[in-house]
Formats: sequence, C-alpha cells, structure tokens
Amino acid sequence: MAKTLRVGVIGVGGIASTHFPGWKDSPHAEMIAFADVDERVLNRVADAHGIELRYTDPYDLIANKDIDIVDICTPNMYHAPLAIAALNAGKHVICEKPLAPTPQEIKKMIAARDKSGKLLMTAQHFRFSGLAQALKAEVDKGILGDIYHARCWMLRRAAAPVRPGFILKKHSGGGACIDIGVHILDLTLWMMGHPKPVTVSGVTQAKLHKLPGAFSIWGGLIPPEMDVEEFAAAFVRFENGATLILEVSWLLHHKTTGEDMQMWLYGDKGGAHWPSNEIFTTHNATQQQLNTQLVRAEGGEPHAKECMAFAEAVATGKPSPVPAEQSLDVMAILDGVYRSAVSGREVRLKY
Ligand SMILES: NC(=O)c1ccc[n+]([C@@H]2O[C@H](COP(=O)([O-])OP(=O)(O)OC[C@H]3O[C@@H](n4cnc5c(N)ncnc54)[C@H](O)[C@@H]3O)[C@@H](O)[C@H]2O)c1
Repeated sequence: MAKTLRVGVIGVGGIASTHFPGWKDSPHAEMIAFADVDERVLNRVADAHGIELRYTDPYDLIANKDIDIVDICTPNMYHAPLAIAALNAGKHVICEKPLAPTPQEIKKMIAARDKSGKLLMTAQHFRFSGLAQALKAEVDKGILGDIYHARCWMLRRAAAPVRPGFILKKHSGGGACIDIGVHILDLTLWMMGHPKPVTVSGVTQAKLHKLPGAFSIWGGLIPPEMDVEEFAAAFVRFENGATLILEVSWLLHHKTTGEDMQMWLYGDKGGAHWPSNEIFTTHNATQQQLNTQLVRAEGGEPHAKECMAFAEAVATGKPSPVPAEQSLDVMAILDGVYRSAVSGREVRLKY
C-alpha cells in the first residue's frame, strides 16, 4: 500500500521518539520533516532517522504544503498555538497530552478544527494499551452495568519530571495535575463512557519539593524555580449521578518505587480494577462472590498504536480516535480542581 500521508513532527527531543515507530509502521503515513527550536537536538534526531527536511521555526514546517499531518510533541503551552496554526494551514493534527492546559484553549482548537474540516486527536496513549482495550471491550458489553463510582490515581514517590517543560508554569501550565492527572482521568472517563462532569471539589499541594534536598529519581535535586503543584486530589460529580475520586502526585510518601497507577470502576452489575483487569461480581441468588480476570490482551506499543490509529482515521475518513471534546471534559475537570483549590469550595463546571 502506498504511503500517501506525509507527517511533520514538531518538538523531537523527548516523547516524539515513541511516535516515530508508529509513523514508520503505518501503511498510510511517512515522516518527512522535523522541527525543533533546539538546533542541536533537531540535527541529532533527524540524522538518526534520516530526515532531510529540518526547521528550527515550527511555523516553517506548518507552512510546508507537502505535509498532511502535524504531530505536536512540544511542552504543553505551545500545543494550542501550533495546533491552531496547523489546522488553519489545512493539516490534520495529533497533539501530545494535555491537548492544551486550559479548557479555553481547547475550545479554540475545536473551533479551528471545525473550520478546517481536518482531524484533531489527543495522544492519550494509555487508551491504546492492550490491557485497557481488553477491559474497555468488556465494559462496553455491559459487564459492569451502570458505572456509578470510580476511583483512580497516578501516584509517584520522588519521581517528578525535572525539566523546564514540566516544572515551570510558563511552559507547562500546571504540575502533576496537568501532567499525569490527564492520563488517568482520560482513561477513567473513557471507561465510564464519558459522563458529563458538573462539579469538582479539589485541592493541590506543593510541600515536598520545597524541602531542603528534595530530589527526583529521574533528575537529581528539584530546582528551586519549580512553581507548580506536586499533588492534587479531587471529588467529581457527573450529570448522570456518577462520582469519581482522583489522586495524583509526582512526590508523595507513598509505598511505591516509582509509580502506582490504578483505576477502580464500580457498577450495579460488577466492579473492575485496572491494570490487573480483574472483574468482581456478587450473585445474590447463590450468595456467591466471583472474581475473574481478563487474560487476553493485544500487544503493541501504545504510542506507536495511537499514531497508526490516527493515520488510519485520516486515510479512511473515520473520526478522530481521541476526539478533542473528550479532552475538553478532562481539562474542564482539572481546571475545576485548580479553581476549587483556590476558592476552598466545590465549583460548578461551565464550558
Ligand atoms: N504520553 C506520554 O506518556 C508523555 C510522556 C512525556 C511527555 N509527554 C508530553 O509530550 C510533550 C513534550 O514532552 P517531552 O517530555 O517530550 O519534553 P522534552 O522537553 O523532552 O522535549 C520537547 C522538545 O520540544 C522542543 N520545543 C520546545 N518548544 C518548542 C517549540 N515552540 N517549537 C518546537 N520545538 C519546541 C524542545 O527543544 C524539545 O526538544 C508534553 O506536552 C508532555 O506532556 C507525554
């Protein structure tokens, strides 16, 4: 099959490397251009992947008429301006998470998408893991019944990403809430079938990173300039009566060496746990309690799979595999956490 879609990647120094295999393996797409504001990084990564077209100004890549898909892998604050420029230039856009750090920016991205008629996808790679897809398939068949409560967390112990793109608000837009809250919240809302969130009560904390000698296992001492939260917790109510409890942290005295990421779903027919993919039911007629476990999960590296899914959607005229409206719900909740943390009260979500 001829590869008919040409891809330009913006911001090639970090997570972008997990996208490259997806573009290479896609029957529809090929990478032809890279952009990065750091010329040294640009040349090193482009040399490694045999990419001739190189830009230190990402808007020059966007102006290239040969490019069909723009893949945005820059720090968060540059997602919206780059994506809107790319959509306005008639490109399809896949963009790393968070789609943007505020609901207002995501709404502008959706407006640009609708005006252009192109696809816009958030790179929520956890949805593409075999375990998550196997559980989602069962949940969609109704195995849990009506999901009326969820608990989810992504908790790290001394594991903050100590890079300016994450710990300085001017580049990231927020801390652990925006960085990893977006992962586990997106996955949980997806499993729940995207009920509409209506209120949030939340807190954020920045305590441990300010202590003398505070460190991250990924990068030595935490720089004193870090100006974002390291922890957040929230209680969310949905229009359908369901509720959700969220906890996220980069630094927490939690019993884990690295990361503890879990989701619990509770419905009127059964409960489920991810990533163990266990399902729990109780049979009233026999007074039996039954625990089962999904053991079959498709393989494949999820970042690569998300890029392949996007190219497939563009090539075959399908909808975006992760629609921006779903990312708007996620970001409205996280924005609610920040607003509630400031006001000390539950806040209503209007967006
Ligand atoms: N899905 C995941 O698991 C995952 C993991 C890590 C990061 N991310 C997301 O990916 C994005 C990038 O994170 P990262 O870890 O790769 O960061 P990084 O700092 O390692 O790499 C970002 C690259 O973008 C370049 N850059 C910065 N501003 C730019 C601009 N305006 N135009 C062009 N290039 C620019 C930098 O020079 C750098 O090479 C963030 O939004 C982050 O949330 C996602």
